[in-house]
Amino acid sequence: VSIAVYPGSFDPLTFGHLDVLERAVKIFDKVIIAVAKNPDKDPLFTLEERVQMIRAHAEGHSNVDIDFFDGLLINYAHRKKATVILRGLRAVSDFEFEFQMALTNRKLADDIETVFMMPSESYSYLSSRIIKAVAKLGGNVEDFVPKLVAKRLKGRVGLVK
Ligand code: PNS
Repeated sequence: VSIAVYPGSFDPLTFGHLDVLERAVKIFDKVIIAVAKNPDKDPLFTLEERVQMIRAHAEGHSNVDIDFFDGLLINYAHRKKATVILRGLRAVSDFEFEFQMALTNRKLADDIETVFMMPSESYSYLSSRIIKAVAKLGGNVEDFVPKLVAKRLKGRVGLVK
């Protein structure tokens, strides 16, 4: 069986992530969405909130698991018997970092392949970072994230400086 780990900060989940997931469930026997507990970026939402927002929108699939991980991604992938790390690739601007990560992970674990999938072009400009910036400035983010996430964003940005 092919098990893919789909890792990320998911701070928060966007339509772009969901688009990649929809494509991935058709290709892999199982997709594990793995939320990074402590991403380098200081997250707006707690781990529990990020996981819960994904649960609310991705649980419809029988072959999707939602989980979190701490430490090295390849160690988590090995524990889950996954042979694939799945990443969404939007534009050339993503490439350099993704290239470094994929080859670093390959050096650390030769038995795991990184696979890139492109979201629909209608989502290719979306990023959690920009969506948070828009929400913080009071903009409407309902075109970018599911309704529940938009609501959470609205509630949350009021609380931060
Ligand atoms: O959504 P993001 O922020 O682009 O996800 C980045 C993430 C969490 C996949 C990456 O930072 C990661 O894998 N972190 C875990 C630590 C690790 O394994 N680092 C070495 C590989 S670069």
